[in-house]
Amino acid sequence: MRTARLTLDRDFAVGPVDRRLFGSFVEHMGRCVYTGIFEPGHPAADERGFRTDVLELARELGVSVVRYPGGNFVSGYRWEDGVGPDRPTRLDLAWRQIETNRFGLDEFVAWSRAASVEPMMAVNLGTRGIQEACDLLEYANHPSGTYWSDQRVKHGAAEPYGIRLWCLGNEMDGPWQIGHKTAEEYGRLAGETARAMRLVDPGVELVLCGSSNSSMPTFGAWEATVLEHAYDAVDYLSLHAYYEEDGDLQGFLASAADMDRFISSVVSTADHVAAKLRSRKKINLSFDEWNVWNATRFRGRGRSPFEEAPRLIEDTYTAADAVVVGDFLITLLSHAGRVSVACQAQLANVIAPIRTEPGGPAWRQSIFHPFALTARHAAGQVLRVEPAGPVLDTARYGEVPQLSAVATATEDEVVVFAVNRSAAETLELRADLRDVGAARVVEATAIAEEDPHLLGGPDEEVRPRPLPGVALDRAILTAALPPASWSMIRIARDA
Ligand code: AHR
Repeated sequence: MRTARLTLDRDFAVGPVDRRLFGSFVEHMGRCVYTGIFEPGHPAADERGFRTDVLELARELGVSVVRYPGGNFVSGYRWEDGVGPDRPTRLDLAWRQIETNRFGLDEFVAWSRAASVEPMMAVNLGTRGIQEACDLLEYANHPSGTYWSDQRVKHGAAEPYGIRLWCLGNEMDGPWQIGHKTAEEYGRLAGETARAMRLVDPGVELVLCGSSNSSMPTFGAWEATVLEHAYDAVDYLSLHAYYEEDGDLQGFLASAADMDRFISSVVSTADHVAAKLRSRKKINLSFDEWNVWNATRFRGRGRSPFEEAPRLIEDTYTAADAVVVGDFLITLLSHAGRVSVACQAQLANVIAPIRTEPGGPAWRQSIFHPFALTARHAAGQVLRVEPAGPVLDTARYGEVPQLSAVATATEDEVVVFAVNRSAAETLELRADLRDVGAARVVEATAIAEEDPHLLGGPDEEVRPRPLPGVALDRAILTAALPPASWSMIRIARDA
């Protein structure tokens, strides 16, 4: 068994744990909204049609912020269709759906409050522009006494919603996007939209679209160009990434190493633009779509008929998927300070930790567990870890560290999150915790199924179980991390 070592030092903090890293995403796509979070007539629905079983799971998941209403959907969306008594049924061209508009902004804000999450809105910069974005912001955030704010009041919301986070469009570099643009076109439009939105409400925090993923041919150049146009007017730059196994388990288990490189290169590009513009302002990142998505299967489907709430990309997740999701969270935490917002895509049914059946049950998928445990126990400061240990040579991503780890510390507790990325070998973890005053192990939990392809389902076949053989001897922690495993070890600190 090979060994990976790390040392924790209370003075080497990366930054505070930002709760906004535990975000999610609700898009009008497939059954995320309709029969996902919203299903009037369901036995568990409240008077507003919100499924309370899903609300409970969202709370248990520990979601902090939820992005809405898309995704590709937003690029053809008329937000006014989703407010007030008259709700036209429309064609949604992004996903070939029939959109009834029974659920819209007012319902989303009410749902966010019921779920105790911060809403994060996206404006349509595909088929629409500055005026519609300002109208939407006026409707949401202006107190009253103007046309749009009074419409909100008329629809039952006397107080402004005070929505802080706004995305300036979605994946505008993607040729699949309705109203897709060049970097020059989008940079100009986004910059001008941002400036106008700040005139409506100076308190907003604005997210500029980065590349749809790091394999886009314009990746890097896109970020630099759009930032040059909008640097002074925005707060964050977005990243999106999806990963899948696609017949290569070892490569897949190393996915978070790629996410790590992706983040570092976008940080470098943002800092390069800051230097070029002689700006002291730092642009942080919003990783507002990330997850495991078996997209190869999805791409193969033919053109579907227009349907209401179709079953789209309802992936059932495995044990390996849960391990990789745990590793993504480790990676996002280890970039605390530069990644300020992160949203797992999506919350219900559509590549989601929560699955539902119309009129039936709701359940946790395998990927629910590492998210819920990390959101619950990662707190205080993120500590620098920098493990030293064996390296895996993968066909997909080259050499990657076998151990992925991060630690967080409050006054009472240190938590080590660790992934053994090897598909085949157990890894010994040795962590020197003398400087953080480690007193005793409170909990050691792992997702480590013998069969990494074990599928989770309503019976939660894949779930966290106690990790055996964890020892703390004079503040040196040792653990044997099984192959393809995610672990969380909580250690009480000396008073
Ligand atoms: O989350 C599913 C889709 O993936 C989103 O609509 C889009 O932004 C991304 O390509």
